[in-house]
Amino acid sequence: KKIAIAMGGYSSEYRISINSGNIVYKHLNRDLYEPYRVHILKGEWFVVAEDDTPYPINKSNFTVKMNDKVIKFDCVFNTIHGTPGENGLLQAYLELIGIPQTSCDYYQSALTFNKRDLISVLKPYGVKAATNYFLNKDEEINTAEIVEKVGLPCFIKANRAGSSFGVTKVKTEDEIEDAAKTAFTEDNEAIVESFLDGTEVSVGVITYKGEIIALPVTEIVPEGEFFDYAAKYLGKSQEITPARISEEDTQKVQDIAVMIYKKLKMKGFSRSEFIFHEGEPHFIEMNTNPGISQASILPQQAEKAGISLKDLFGSTIEAALN
Ligand code: DAL
Ligand code: MG
Repeated sequence: KKIAIAMGGYSSEYRISINSGNIVYKHLNRDLYEPYRVHILKGEWFVVAEDDTPYPINKSNFTVKMNDKVIKFDCVFNTIHGTPGENGLLQAYLELIGIPQTSCDYYQSALTFNKRDLISVLKPYGVKAATNYFLNKDEEINTAEIVEKVGLPCFIKANRAGSSFGVTKVKTEDEIEDAAKTAFTEDNEAIVESFLDGTEVSVGVITYKGEIIALPVTEIVPEGEFFDYAAKYLGKSQEITPARISEEDTQKVQDIAVMIYKKLKMKGFSRSEFIFHEGEPHFIEMNTNPGISQASILPQQAEKAGISLKDLFGSTIEAALN
């Protein structure tokens, strides 16, 4: 089967996505799959051949002409973080033209990529979260009201972004304006959240060989103030799998993550972040195309569960095809 590994995208997470895509390229079982590296950029989409020659994709039907042969893909392995692969755009396009892809459908992707909307959908299911406050780029910021609603310290985040781009921990009211500006470099919406104090954990949920399963839980211990870009990708954190929490807490957080996956009818990979605040898991956010590069958490969790990347990726393709 011909597999287009979609990578790149046009958010700040471009480079991370290229790393994730290359890991899939490297680990796909070549006896079963013929992988192609498909770079999706803002203007152009192209296949990067073995010798690094780019071949443009025909956007009207997602085919590519290489050496006089037109290649039609059986499936897209979606490894784009951020726009347009994690927010539903690419998913909607592929659904329209009838090509299966490995991640959530367009609506689940758009919903889960929007931190504010996801939290409001999850609350009726009893999922606890930080107190939040919403900012639009073109509106005046009332810093006193923010402090009154969410307290200090607080976090200001781009509402729709990943890898901690556009996230600032704010300690005083006069830092709010600058933090909002930082968030607005990534998105025209921002979310302010109250500070949750406690152990942070990351929970992978996948569909593996037809079953929805939670992976071992990872505890995140950042060296700095929070799990920022440097902590995620420059080694400035410890990621401990399994997390040093009780069996009961592990089960609890896995159950919530699986419940969310099932209630939202998700597909493919997901990785949810929680903070145990006052002993209770509070939901932070979810990634439906979590990183799968060397530095990423989900592959570490899969390894602890005894699942090889080859099996994980193969099973994910088969799920998309069925
Ligand atoms: N957004 C990054 C890639 C992650 O969640 O792993
Ligand atoms: Mg994220």
